[in-house]
Amino acid sequence: MVPEIQNLLHEARRFPPTQEFAAQANASSELYEQASAGREEFWADQARQLLHWHTPFTTTLDWSNPPFAKWFDDGQLNVAYNCLDRHVLAGLGDRVALHWEGEPGDTRTVTYAELTAEVKRTANLLVSLGITAGDRVAIYLPMIPEAVVAMLAVARIGAVHSVVFGGFSASSLRSRIDDANAKVVITADGGWRKGKVMPLKPAVDAALAQGGPENPSSVEHVLVVKRGDNEVEWTSGRDLWWHEEVPAMDAEHEAQPFAAEHPLFILYTSGTTGSPKGILHTSGGYLTQVAFTHRNVFDLKAETDVFWCTADIGWVTGHSYVVYGPLANGATQVLYEGTPDVPHPGRWWELIEKYKVTTLYTAPTAIRSFMKAGREIPLGFDLTSLRVLGSVGEPINPEAWIWYQEIIGGGLTPVVDTWWQTETGAIMISALAGVTTTKPGSAQVPIPGISVDVVSEAGQSRPKNSGGLLVVTEPWPAMLRGIWGDPERFKKTYWDQFEGKYFAGDGARLDRDGEVWVLGRVDDVMNVSGHRLSTAEIESALVSHHMVAEAAVVGAEDEATGQAVVAFVILKRSADTHDVASASDILRAHVAAEIGAIARPRSVFIVQELPKTRSGKIMRRLLRDVADGREVGDTSTLADTQVMQTISDTVR
Ligand code: PRX
Repeated sequence: MVPEIQNLLHEARRFPPTQEFAAQANASSELYEQASAGREEFWADQARQLLHWHTPFTTTLDWSNPPFAKWFDDGQLNVAYNCLDRHVLAGLGDRVALHWEGEPGDTRTVTYAELTAEVKRTANLLVSLGITAGDRVAIYLPMIPEAVVAMLAVARIGAVHSVVFGGFSASSLRSRIDDANAKVVITADGGWRKGKVMPLKPAVDAALAQGGPENPSSVEHVLVVKRGDNEVEWTSGRDLWWHEEVPAMDAEHEAQPFAAEHPLFILYTSGTTGSPKGILHTSGGYLTQVAFTHRNVFDLKAETDVFWCTADIGWVTGHSYVVYGPLANGATQVLYEGTPDVPHPGRWWELIEKYKVTTLYTAPTAIRSFMKAGREIPLGFDLTSLRVLGSVGEPINPEAWIWYQEIIGGGLTPVVDTWWQTETGAIMISALAGVTTTKPGSAQVPIPGISVDVVSEAGQSRPKNSGGLLVVTEPWPAMLRGIWGDPERFKKTYWDQFEGKYFAGDGARLDRDGEVWVLGRVDDVMNVSGHRLSTAEIESALVSHHMVAEAAVVGAEDEATGQAVVAFVILKRSADTHDVASASDILRAHVAAEIGAIARPRSVFIVQELPKTRSGKIMRRLLRDVADGREVGDTSTLADTQVMQTISDTVR
């Protein structure tokens, strides 16, 4: 189903905004004109209009020490105040911030006044636990209102959160805790997923116990929300129940201003090496760009819209378009704990009907799985409240785009395909609802104030109607400020390839109009269901198993998930190999236990050899051919040209 790019580029359908939509849209083509008249001034205007500054800034961009940018450097603000207090002070305390729905069907409605009070109490608790500005707090929670509260409480006191997706394993959690030296972990006993309680606290206990008493972690306290009601062990002195501690705190807490460049969060993401990198984001520039894009890409009308971004807060999409962008804009949102098909396959559509959702922002993988389940499911619900649809995380094939627009959007709804990354912090390339004539399958144009290019390997700009590598050519407000604790890796990964330009790691094509079609990663990073996974990280999990001598992992094409993890493994001679079928299952389970269920390979093939060049480099390209069932490409540079024949025979 994932189409060849040539087919994509022949996609000729065009959807201009309706006059009616365009007439009421927040954005207009003037935004592009303003931005091109003066990029920095444009962002400074946005920062002033969209945010409250305790101390106004007088400088916009400091790029004197690239690639370390400073935006609005002498300004001061409090991110949580911008997302909460100022709305309450403006008389909007009764506006619903969150329509929360638990997977079993329990609900909570949280207004801006209630959210603000809960964040203040939690901030007071964190202070009483000794957390001060700059300290790191790990968050490992299901999609419950406390997840939003925890992030904002940490931000409010100038501490730095590191949210770890609840699907990651104990050892992934521990390595992230160690890397950031987190002092507190905020978690829950468990959360509801796929009709049952998925335990979380036991994973935290296991993470903190790893390495034994000689290897204590940096964590002093574990704050636990009661959600799953599953039984948990308790370490007294260390562990605290949220429902006992938070309500006992004062609901008053005055937000202090912090410098615009004060760190806001670290979010770990996979790169091309075995260890995830902690992407660092700061405050003023990040909040400016997430608020700007949320308002203009999705045409947010805060008074009347109900926004629903389906991403988990464990990913950057959840940070930027569940927490910071929408709350900075005073939006009303839906937050849903569970999976789309529990207790029935129409759950999402039921929620859209129930809460009259106006804006849905989700990933192509989800759309493709709904397509497969059949249009009659969504057509059984009233989806007429929807007026904007968004897509993120992976290329969207035109077929899925059209289905999304017709079946979910009822035909006329703008669909915006938004390209960005954990590192970019906010949307970078996207149509603007009501302004752009959309093209199914293309992310289209950089948003106002952002400059991108498609270049050759040598760094030359590619002409229209050709392909190359996607780069960002000018610093932007929400850009990552570094990799936590590793400035060299930051420079090397993103800035060394093309002088002065940010290399995104994606391939792209420019069409005849010069608009961008993102093709996907050109490095050893896979994209499974819109989530980033590194081949090296999964290989290192595989070789950590005592049976495994060598492993090579590739991303294979997958109809549903975009890509799927496929591993080729050589077992040690000493391994008990009498049952090869169970070796595959053991290793699939091992990867899930080491990294998390999202990294579990679709298949593990046990092979005798791996294809290597004479210098010993594994030729993944050839393995990808095998995994995709294609004819194997040129093998002439292999040290042993027979090897691919043997592998192909094994896999068949
Ligand atoms: O390959 C691109 C793909 O997702 C990568 C970024 O992954 P992550 O940091 O996990 O953030 C995902 C959500 C922002 C990119 O390098 N990607 C993201 N959005 C798109 C996309 N590929 C094509 N089209 C998109 N709209």
